Amino acid sequence: MILNRKLFKLINAYFRLGEVNILQLFNKKKEEKLETTTSFKIKKNEEVISLPEIVDKRKLDIKYPLLEPYAYAHISWDKENNELVYFVEEPKLDESEKKNLEVLENGIKELINISFINIKKIETVIVYLEKNLRALIVEFGLKISEDSFLKIMYYIYRDFIGLNEIEPLLNDYYIEDIECNGSKTPLYIVHRKYRNLRTNIVFENNKVLASLVEKMAQRAGKYVSYASPLLDGRLPDGSRVNATYTEDVTSRGPTFTVRKFTKEPWTPVKLMEFRTVSPEMLAYFWILIENESNIMIIGGTGSGKTSFLNALAFFIPPAARIVSIEDTKELNILHENWLPSVARAGVGLTNLVGQKHGEVSLFDLLKESFRQRPDYVIVGEIRGKEAFVLFQGASSGHPSFSTMHAEDVETMVRRLETEPINLSPSLIASLDVVGIMIQAKIGDKSVRRLKEIDEIINVEQQLGKVNINVPFIRDPRTDKFYSKNDSKIFAKIMAEKGMTYEELMSEFSLRSKLLMQMYKKKVFGFKEVQEVINGYYKNPKEVLRKFNLI
Ligand SMILES: Nc1ncnc2c1ncn2[C@@H]1O[C@H](COP(=O)(O)OP(=O)(O)OP(=O)(O)O)[C@@H](O)[C@H]1O
Ligand SMILES: [Mg+2]
Repeated sequence: MILNRKLFKLINAYFRLGEVNILQLFNKKKEEKLETTTSFKIKKNEEVISLPEIVDKRKLDIKYPLLEPYAYAHISWDKENNELVYFVEEPKLDESEKKNLEVLENGIKELINISFINIKKIETVIVYLEKNLRALIVEFGLKISEDSFLKIMYYIYRDFIGLNEIEPLLNDYYIEDIECNGSKTPLYIVHRKYRNLRTNIVFENNKVLASLVEKMAQRAGKYVSYASPLLDGRLPDGSRVNATYTEDVTSRGPTFTVRKFTKEPWTPVKLMEFRTVSPEMLAYFWILIENESNIMIIGGTGSGKTSFLNALAFFIPPAARIVSIEDTKELNILHENWLPSVARAGVGLTNLVGQKHGEVSLFDLLKESFRQRPDYVIVGEIRGKEAFVLFQGASSGHPSFSTMHAEDVETMVRRLETEPINLSPSLIASLDVVGIMIQAKIGDKSVRRLKEIDEIINVEQQLGKVNINVPFIRDPRTDKFYSKNDSKIFAKIMAEKGMTYEELMSEFSLRSKLLMQMYKKKVFGFKEVQEVINGYYKNPKEVLRKFNLI
């Protein structure tokens, strides 16, 4: 359908008026009444569907809903390429439906006030879109069956409310990462169950991709441009997004990676179910955290450091004041007295001290945080000079938890001792314990495990030389965890608190058993687990009685 420009302008003018009226209607809070009039309904997949284990990859053929009844994930074996693939199945449009979609998309774009996207209630936005779409169809004199209308409405919903082609993927609980390496090349995902899978999503050209990156930036409340082409932000659903906007930064054009998070963080008991840690390891951390130890979680990229750090936060005493500092908000903590803060990138050129206008770095936030009298300080990831503030705080009695990218303790210490961090060995020694996360393979399956727990005894003057004690270690052959009854930190706690060895070990054993009982009784949830731990801080006997442990 070819539209005369004049007519189009006229129609737009008409609808701009119409739009005001519709928005006024919203203001009058007639939302409830309006909602019942839409015929487009979409169901976001909220529950976790259970998926089969792989017995024979070649026979796998499963389909599950993402945005019901319009978008589904279809995982099956691709005979030609000998690999498992992940296809997003969406409504198919015939040629005339495609044309109609294009016309209507352009019409809607002219019509809508972008700020409507900020209306929190999706249902309200759907009503707005559907009403306008129906009005446009009448105005343009299009003949569209109800069936076609709903299919078109799905794409309008996906591209206006959602994040275009990747919107269905964002609704898949099982997706960990979405990776786009440029246009004309398939998008890959990392699936919690079936790992790396190629998808059927390919961005036609760099322009399409760049506009998606712009949209992601807008949703994350950030800004990308040719002058500032790197995006590091957090999407409204909590996912973390890293993207490049221009071709000169990455050769294949704009790229992005989305790291998805579960809506609620995994609890320590949930991590036991994954066999990432043993109840004893968790009980050990619980006692250390109660006694204000300094903890670092290290490991490779995507090994589960942040998730583990978040799980540890459950063990912080309920009334404690927690300050967390991150580049991108990933942590989710239930404590009432939690003050989360996020660094902000600046704009323009860097000044003499290496900062941009308006920049608030981790270093600034951390310095500031110590004025807020925190009981516990959590830094999402240590990379630069903020480490100095953290370790200084730690050595002067502010317990701190953090993560760092390093495969082992020696590498971590070396990184802390050299540029740009430059810490002295004695400052590094204020760290009590290091947990090492790994992504291990068990047969075909990739799993996350806490490989070992290392207690720092001392850090020598010689670069990277550190003496450790290892109270817990995983045996990779059997995938079991082993412990030895010798913890230097427990000895320190006994001395500080005047506890006997028997007293501390009995507490350790009770907490291990409690965690085990929680696991057996399937107490996995965010709130439930926190309640039990908080309850234990207030009245341990009552909790132990409830779990039949005394
Ligand atoms: N114990 C676990 N078992 C299974 N999956 C996990 C586990 N921990 C984390 N994951 C998943 O692995 C992915 C990476 O987790 P996370 O962000 O915690 O890792 P990370 O080491 O902090 O990554 P990065 O190096 O990018 O900061 C996430 O999608 C998360 O859901
Ligand atoms: Mg992390």
